[in-house]
Amino acid sequence: MTKPNHVAVIMDGNGRWAQQRLMPRIEGHRRGIAALRTLVETARRSQIANLSVFAFSSENWKRPADEVQGLMRFFVAGLKKEAVPLRDAGVRMHVVGDRSVFSEDLNAAIDEAEDIGKDASGMHFNICLNYGGRWDIVQAAQMLQKEDSPITLESLEQKLCMPWSGPVDLMIRTGGERRISNFILWQAAYAELWFSDALWPDFSAADFAAALSWFEGRERRFGMTSAQLKA
Ligand code: FPP
Repeated sequence: MTKPNHVAVIMDGNGRWAQQRLMPRIEGHRRGIAALRTLVETARRSQIANLSVFAFSSENWKRPADEVQGLMRFFVAGLKKEAVPLRDAGVRMHVVGDRSVFSEDLNAAIDEAEDIGKDASGMHFNICLNYGGRWDIVQAAQMLQKEDSPITLESLEQKLCMPWSGPVDLMIRTGGERRISNFILWQAAYAELWFSDALWPDFSAADFAAALSWFEGRERRFGMTSAQLKA
C-alpha cells in the first residue's frame, strides 16, 4: 500500500458555505483557512511529502472587488501568522503562480514566509496563488524558448512552477463539482481524482483520511495492463 507522494487540493465551496448561513462570502473564506490549517496538519501527520492547494486562480480576479480584496488581505495576514508555526512543524511553504501583479505588501510577505521556511524538510506545501495550469505550461515553454533550449518532455517539466514536487498522485476537489478547473494540469496527467460533496470549510481530517485510504486501493497502471503490473 503506497501513499501518494504529491496531493493537490481544489478547495471549493467557501462561498456556498457562507451563503447557506446567510453570511458574507468572505466569512466562508475565513472558515476555509481553518480547514486549510487542519489539512496541512493532517497531511504532515500522514507523512505526505508534497501538498499543493489552489488558493486563487488566474480567473478569480473576475470576482467582486471586495471579495478579491478580502482574499488578498487574508493571504498577507495568513502568511505572516503561519510562517513560523509552519516552519516549526517541518513544513516548507512556497507560493506558486504569477506574482507580477501582486501588491508590494503581498510580495514582501511571500518573500519573508518563504525565507523563514527555507530549511524545513518535512513537507513541501505549495500555495497556488494567481496560478493556472495552462499559464504554467506556457511560462515553461517561454523560458525554454528564451534560452534557445530544445522543448522535450523532460526539459519542459523542469521549467514548470514546482519541479520539486513531481507528478500529482492524488487530486482532491471539494464542493461537489467534478472538474479540474485549470489547476495543475501537466503534473496531474496520471493523478487519481477524488471528489467530495463536502463544502471546503466542512472538509475534515476524516475526509482526508478517506481519500488517502481510497487512493491506497487504486491500481495505477500508467498505460500498462493489470497483468503486466502483477508480473
Ligand atoms: C473556492 O470557493 C475558494 C477560493 C477561491 C479561495 C480559497 C482560499 C482559501 C481557503 C484561503 C487560503 C488562505 C491562505 C492564507 C493560503 P468558492 O468561493 O468558489 O466557493 P463557491 O463555489 O461555493 O462559491
